[in-house]
Amino acid sequence: MAIIIDGKGFAARVRAQVAEQVAALAGRGIVPGLAVVLVGEDPASQVYVRSKGKLTVEVGMRSFEHKLPADTAEAELLALVERLNADPAVNGILVQLPLPAHINADLVINAIDPAKDVDGFHISNVGLLGTGQKAMVPCTPLGCLMMLRDHLGSLSGLEAVVVGRSNIVGKPMAQLLLGDSCTVTVAHSRTRDLPAVCRRADILVAAVGRPEMVSGEWIKPGATVIDVGINRVERDGRSRLVGDVDFESAAKVAGAITPVPGGVGPMTIACLLANTLIATCRANGLAEPEGLTA
Ligand code: GUN
Repeated sequence: MAIIIDGKGFAARVRAQVAEQVAALAGRGIVPGLAVVLVGEDPASQVYVRSKGKLTVEVGMRSFEHKLPADTAEAELLALVERLNADPAVNGILVQLPLPAHINADLVINAIDPAKDVDGFHISNVGLLGTGQKAMVPCTPLGCLMMLRDHLGSLSGLEAVVVGRSNIVGKPMAQLLLGDSCTVTVAHSRTRDLPAVCRRADILVAAVGRPEMVSGEWIKPGATVIDVGINRVERDGRSRLVGDVDFESAAKVAGAITPVPGGVGPMTIACLLANTLIATCRANGLAEPEGLTA
């Protein structure tokens, strides 16, 4: 039976570390501020935004929430981003994705000041990460990397397979694993014989958004499995959350595995707060805290 990687507990420790640093900044009269922009009423996004706001305040930061109607014009959203870029009280800006279809998400993301881009989605941060330079690193893959390092120590030379090629998770995850000297394969919906590719992995990261797709037979005995999926399914007449990995069969084969919920999810928000702290330190020319970034 696999070791269960406790993302919830790990995230609480990361937030405590962030809170300690935020308290130290308060002595210099600096309060980090995180602005979250939500356009429309996507229910999952509303849940995320609410819990982000609550945890931001809990670590001692200021939370600015901008909720805009679904029919907001692109120009209006761009104008808000410009105001947040210029606001010295705002150190981090997050525009919740997905955006409504009439808005060009790339245009909006690339309008964010890269120094305030706590999601790490701006093309300049993507380029910095890809070339091994200091960047803002996307929160979900950063949280996965922290758990992997904590569980495995050095990742050097390990065979890593990332299933999923999104800009939010798959691609930056692959860059981070490469940065830690893994041999990285990015698999996706068109990959031939996906189970065989997954079975090569010492580290398997599932980020495809398909409920319980990865079964125990796809997993190399002893592998470390990171399940990024959060899928709401109806089971026995009840709504519940499951990952992209079939936990029951996978846990019999894997060496370690993250649960859903309580794995990657809480780490994502903890890393968002860590990124906001780091952006604040950089904006003020202060030394960055250790251990909170890639
Ligand atoms: N939607 C789902 N995940 C994310 C994320 O990490 N950041 C943003 N901005 N939107 C998301």
